[in-house]
Amino acid sequence: MLTEVPPTVIDDNRMVRCHHTDQVERMAAAELPVGIPSVVDRSGAPLLRLAGVSKTFEQGGKHIKAVRDVSIEVYPGETLGLVGESGSGKTTLAHSILGLTAPDEGSVIEFGKEPLPPVTRRRSIAQIRGIQIVFQNPDSALNRRHSVRRIIGRSLRRLGQVPSETVNEELLHITSAVRLTERHLDMRPAQLSGGLKQRVAIARAFAGKPRLVVCDEPTSSLDVSVQAAILNLLGDLQRDSSTSYLFISHDLRVVRYLSDRIAVMYLGRIMELGPAERVFDGPHHPYTEALLSAAPSVDGDGRVRIRLEGEIPSAVNVPSGCVFHTRCPRKLEGDVCSTIEPPLLATPDGGVIRCHIPYEELAAVQVTVSRQP
Ligand SMILES: Nc1ncnc2c1ncn2[C@@H]1O[C@H](COP(=O)(O)OP(=O)(O)OP(=O)(O)O)[C@@H](O)[C@H]1O
Ligand code: SF4
Ligand SMILES: [Mg+2]
Repeated sequence: MLTEVPPTVIDDNRMVRCHHTDQVERMAAAELPVGIPSVVDRSGAPLLRLAGVSKTFEQGGKHIKAVRDVSIEVYPGETLGLVGESGSGKTTLAHSILGLTAPDEGSVIEFGKEPLPPVTRRRSIAQIRGIQIVFQNPDSALNRRHSVRRIIGRSLRRLGQVPSETVNEELLHITSAVRLTERHLDMRPAQLSGGLKQRVAIARAFAGKPRLVVCDEPTSSLDVSVQAAILNLLGDLQRDSSTSYLFISHDLRVVRYLSDRIAVMYLGRIMELGPAERVFDGPHHPYTEALLSAAPSVDGDGRVRIRLEGEIPSAVNVPSGCVFHTRCPRKLEGDVCSTIEPPLLATPDGGVIRCHIPYEELAAVQVTVSRQP
């Protein structure tokens, strides 16, 4: 049976009836970002500090060790990229920061030098306002029964504490900042394309002038060229507001362009953290090396996944020693990798790598490989 395709607003001047509106938006999309440079001052206190953060879920009598002993810092105006295969604990870590899931006892999360209560309901309005999230799928994040005006207006009043008489003025300001127009304000999410919906979600996240925005794969449900427009928008908003980002993505190319530093997770652990260029160009952790050499694939649900050889082990029965040893192409002779968990060792650029192979040796073997014909 044929049904009429509902209208989708593309921009202020265009409305189409088509199942493939993202293809229309493709034409309006900006060029791919060519890197978003920022100068981050790390001499002062970090905005966000995590020390020994772990999260264990209990399910059917089993302990799922989703996040293990994570210590990271995010500085004002910085973008920290977070990459890792599906199930490595990225979202669980993000949810712990947001207070959506309580981390294990002993975990420390500080925001602006103050300890953050583990769950949102115990956080102050300033703490809630200070950290916002943009989810992967704007459809599930936005109330489909409400207009864009109501969705963003509510956040302006509640988080931005904007008085009722100036809400309209602020609405216009924020919608223009995310490059929506006044016409979009009276639309409902279902009338907007994927890219426009994500702009609404971003406007909502920025309504309370947050200091940190956690972006959990904000572009992976969007058409590739729409992704570029959204990334440019996030870069512009950061430049204008000095907001910090924790940017989670499977798309290593996206993470590289947006991030100042990158953390790589595997089975709940940070395996490597360092400046974006070094994490990409090497020397890098053998897991990062494997991720970079694996081609991303698209799942049935449209999500981009990184796939390495072999299955990722279960977070219930994590391997002994180095948790990556069951799949590591650089595993050392003998049993050191399978029996002793390597500590995070400092790299000359202020980063860390968790591997028994010393940094200089990683540099030597990885350069040798890249020079081979
Ligand atoms: N609410 C939950 N209850 C039980 N286990 C969970 C829960 N949420 C996550 N897990 C488990 O915790 C581990 C980490 O999951 P998480 O969703 O954080 O990974 P991820 O890196 O975000 O993966 P993806 O890339 O697929 O989004 C997985 O083993 C997952 O099955
Ligand atoms: S410690 Fe061993 S198994 Fe782990 S990443 Fe390094 S070489 Fe590979
Ligand atoms: Mg996730």
